[in-house]
Amino acid sequence: MKRIAVLTSGGDAPGMNAAIRSVVRVGIDRGVEVFGVNHGYAGLVSGDLQEMGRRDVGGIMHLGGTMLGSARSEEFKTEAGQRKAMRSLNQHGVEGLIVIGGNGSQTGANALWKLGLPVVGVASTIDNDLYGADITIGCDTALNIALEAIDRLKVTAASHERAFLIEVMGRDCGYLALMAGIAGGAEAIVIPEVEITPEQLADELTSTYERGKSHAIIVVAEGAKHNANAIMEYFTREEENIGFELRATHLGHVQRGGTPSVFDRGLATRTAAAAVDHMLAGDHGTLVGMQGAKITTTPLEEIAGRHKPVDPELYKLAEVLAK
Ligand code: F6P
Repeated sequence: MKRIAVLTSGGDAPGMNAAIRSVVRVGIDRGVEVFGVNHGYAGLVSGDLQEMGRRDVGGIMHLGGTMLGSARSEEFKTEAGQRKAMRSLNQHGVEGLIVIGGNGSQTGANALWKLGLPVVGVASTIDNDLYGADITIGCDTALNIALEAIDRLKVTAASHERAFLIEVMGRDCGYLALMAGIAGGAEAIVIPEVEITPEQLADELTSTYERGKSHAIIVVAEGAKHNANAIMEYFTREEENIGFELRATHLGHVQRGGTPSVFDRGLATRTAAAAVDHMLAGDHGTLVGMQGAKITTTPLEEIAGRHKPVDPELYKLAEVLAK
């Protein structure tokens, strides 16, 4: 193999730049040319790629986002789009592709692998919902951002005897909400995996108030059946009196734009370097991720389209700690 390419796809995640840097520098060290694809699969379809040298990836480690850009390409989801992507790679003499991204991106990687392209994935998403990886690139940074917001909201909440709903990202997965809630000492956590009705939440908050707490923090996953808007709407409509006044904050994309933590930079650097070595060793059609303290590979076929569940024991622990 003489030439490989790398792309970042789906939602950007802090640490993606460290992963790109690692692919480029490790690839060059191992004697291959490395091309960068701009704007994820959209750039692959349109043939937007260029060779990258060691200096091209200098000074990017500390930046969130991705220097290559990312996109969610509808065209690539079609077989015609995937064939165009294969054509672009052939035209540029690229023999293997490293895909840095989350669930949708690795499903796309699997599609290219099935069309015969040597592909290796690197597990990267703030949502941490990928099979084959205990923790994905970007999740630690996003959690720290959510935690900082919770800590700040606690201060103002306690001053006014208020309850705060904080809605965090995660798509259909409650991992970010659960872990931020545990680390932030939340009084309640609302995630898609465990249904909790607004009525139950109202009872929980009323009892929190009656136990004499000065404030309450409720971390809500955006994908929960009752998200922050739905809960607010219910409390207003029913004129729920929980003791506390209620306010809501939506963190949204703020969670994605942070300076990558030392953990995410290290994880990205190690998994991306391993991806290059697997690519050159002929170990294709796999996702590189961290499981336990080890860098492992899992067949893309096993992970494509699946979602890693949150640990129900952790949710139970959070409930105990909130009392
Ligand atoms: O998958 C990462 C993620 O940030 C999810 O948590 C969120 O639901 C989604 O991307 C938002 O996507 P977009 O940036 O396209 O609005």
